[in-house]
Amino acid sequence: MTIGIDKIGFATSNYVLKLDDLAEKRGIDPEKLSKGLLLKELSIAPITEDIITLGASAAESILSEKDKQEIDMVIVATESGTDQSKAAAVFIHGLLGIQPFARSFEIKEACYGATAALDYAKLHVKQYPQSKVLVIASDIAKYGAHTPGEPTQGAGSIAMLISQNPRILSFNEDNVAQTRDVMDFWRPNYSTTPFVNGIYSTQQYLDSLKSTWAEYQQRHKVSLKDFAAYCFHLPYPKLALKGMKKIMDKTLPEDQQQILKDNFDKSILYSQKVGNIYTGSLFLGLLSLLENSDNLKAGDKIVLFSYGSGAVAEIFSANVVDGYEQQLSTTRLQELDQRLPVSIPDYEQMFFEEAQLDENGNAYFSGYENQVYALTEIAEHQRKYIKVEKPL
Ligand code: CAA
Repeated sequence: MTIGIDKIGFATSNYVLKLDDLAEKRGIDPEKLSKGLLLKELSIAPITEDIITLGASAAESILSEKDKQEIDMVIVATESGTDQSKAAAVFIHGLLGIQPFARSFEIKEACYGATAALDYAKLHVKQYPQSKVLVIASDIAKYGAHTPGEPTQGAGSIAMLISQNPRILSFNEDNVAQTRDVMDFWRPNYSTTPFVNGIYSTQQYLDSLKSTWAEYQQRHKVSLKDFAAYCFHLPYPKLALKGMKKIMDKTLPEDQQQILKDNFDKSILYSQKVGNIYTGSLFLGLLSLLENSDNLKAGDKIVLFSYGSGAVAEIFSANVVDGYEQQLSTTRLQELDQRLPVSIPDYEQMFFEEAQLDENGNAYFSGYENQVYALTEIAEHQRKYIKVEKPL
């Protein structure tokens, strides 16, 4: 039996911050962002858009009514959850109308969580072959205005339907994980933004890549020549490019090196316009590769490097399924270009707005008519969501 990704969807907010504008306002050279970080734009989420609305929108874009009757597990991986107790997966299960006899829960380990969720989904389908598992990676990455991480913020969600006989990618049984207890990036419960040892975090990322890749190759007797593409966690694309250079095998024939490089370029297209979406970043890179590569074919192996600060890393691989392109979009880049540009003052107000609750725990929101799902109010401390009837 093959198990893997049968469908994959993506949602982001409807507002975009152009990094040339940010550079001008902050008095930095625009090329530091466009060449130094390889970033162009960031998605900016208003208060009515959170990990639940984005996750539900990403899932809604791929699920049929039949899928909703067959899904028996919903896992949301996030590091920007809205509640310390109630899982985002429970809200999303309700919003989507998934049949009631399902297990729904949230999972966390920084940007790594969705990789663990996929492996659990794989084990579940192996045991119950008729099952379908909805895995959602949803995050809003906020570092704060005037911080070094500011140009690497973002917002978005990836939804993946895991089943037997998948139509996009089939997983291999080759995961190799590594855990190291480091403080490179963390967010205590009392803080709305993370604490970051920026340069140290990049060193941890690259060193985890190098050491996990060495272990993976040794355990599975494979090397780069066995893969058509390498997808990386993308906190910002330049770091992944450094990773790519680190693992590149210069003894490979020129044309094979070129295929790997071309596919890397295709894998960063969406992140360059969306920014960091933490748990979803690796899979946004995968989606970008699948929807834009001009050389991928059935049977090609793709290797994926997942990294979550703190830190857990994992490398695993998947095979491209015949006809995979029929399950994907051809208009994603054009859709991203339809987001509304925001000025710097609007971004600062919109992205960092906090709900102002009255003495009874109520707050009301407006301006969500262009969303698919929206947070409309907090009533007595309960978050209330709707599906917008006809989004603008
Ligand atoms: N033109 C072109 N390039 C320029 C330039 C210019 N005028 N000025 C600077 N640069 C280049 C620099 O040379 C540097 O490139 P190299 O790394 O190749 O040397 C690059 O721009 C970045 O510049 P700095 O080294 O000065 O770094 P910075 O102040 O921009 O900060 C950062 C970079 C520390 C990563 C910061 O963005 C940050 O803290 N980000 C958040 C943390 C993060 O993303 N860490 C990644 C690993 S952790 C992880 O993966 C989990 C996660 O998702 C958070």
